Amino acid sequence: MFTTNPFSVLAETVPSIVMQGFVVLMILLIVTGTLLDIIHKKNVKYFFENAKKAKKNATKELSTSERIAVVSKTIAYDIGTTSELGAGKRRIAHVLGMYGTILFWVGSVVMIFAYSSTNVETPTIWPMIWHIGALMTVLGGSWFWFFLRVDVYSEAQPWYRIIKADLFVLALIATSLTGFIWSYLQSLNLEGRWDSNLFLILFVISNFVLFGGVYWSKFAHMFYKPGAAIQKNLAEADGSRDNLPPPADAPEQFGLGIKREKPKHY
Ligand code: HEM
Repeated sequence: MFTTNPFSVLAETVPSIVMQGFVVLMILLIVTGTLLDIIHKKNVKYFFENAKKAKKNATKELSTSERIAVVSKTIAYDIGTTSELGAGKRRIAHVLGMYGTILFWVGSVVMIFAYSSTNVETPTIWPMIWHIGALMTVLGGSWFWFFLRVDVYSEAQPWYRIIKADLFVLALIATSLTGFIWSYLQSLNLEGRWDSNLFLILFVISNFVLFGGVYWSKFAHMFYKPGAAIQKNLAEADGSRDNLPPPADAPEQFGLGIKREKPKHY
């Protein structure tokens, strides 16, 4: 199963062009949902206005190579390891889910566009990437949803209380889980038995929910967060400090309060 491309098996009944059209439709849904979100929240407008204002406070003109160095370090460290989540389980769960999703999506696109015809051999690395990505996403996403999300971790709400804010993480887990189970059932050669078709339908529906729900879910944070991290680090390097006052000329003494208990009230 781990070495079989589930989309090339599907191509025996569903033409590759239909699968490719589905991927294009999902990409269009992401673009539309994100643009509507940007128009509604006006966050990108604020972001650029703020960056323009901050530029006036810059104490140093960064050269192109300095800018490239700051951006590369931000991509490799801040974004690549989700450094803003600090050390601990929250960061590990996020990194697992984030890389799992990237592997799952890249694997899907490559297998659907390059290897979904019945007469083309798929290199085994791609189905492996896809299945491992699905498992990593289910693991990281479930760890976060059952144990780490704020409602459960800090507000003692039961894990089964579902609110709108859970749309993204649940749809993400659902796409990977139903995709993985569908591939497993397909590998059993059930000759189109109802349960293998059921999981294919669930896989399609959960993709519609995940990508069609971008406007209402936290999906777009994967675009906003990297942008904000790059802007923050550039503002630190050019001395504009995001329009914040200069650091106080005094030792950083905050009293005991900050160390009194582990921060968990968000
Ligand atoms: C493929 C890319 C990504 C995926 C699949 C992903 C997935 C997730 C999920 C499922 C959540 C939980 C959402 C919730 O509160 O219900 C989350 C939260 C979060 N993500 Fe991402 N993310 C991605 C990229 C990023 C990037 C690039 C950053 C930062 C540079 C980032 C920073 C965060 C932060 C700070 C949270 C809040 C975590 C918390 O409340 O503990 N994410 N992400």
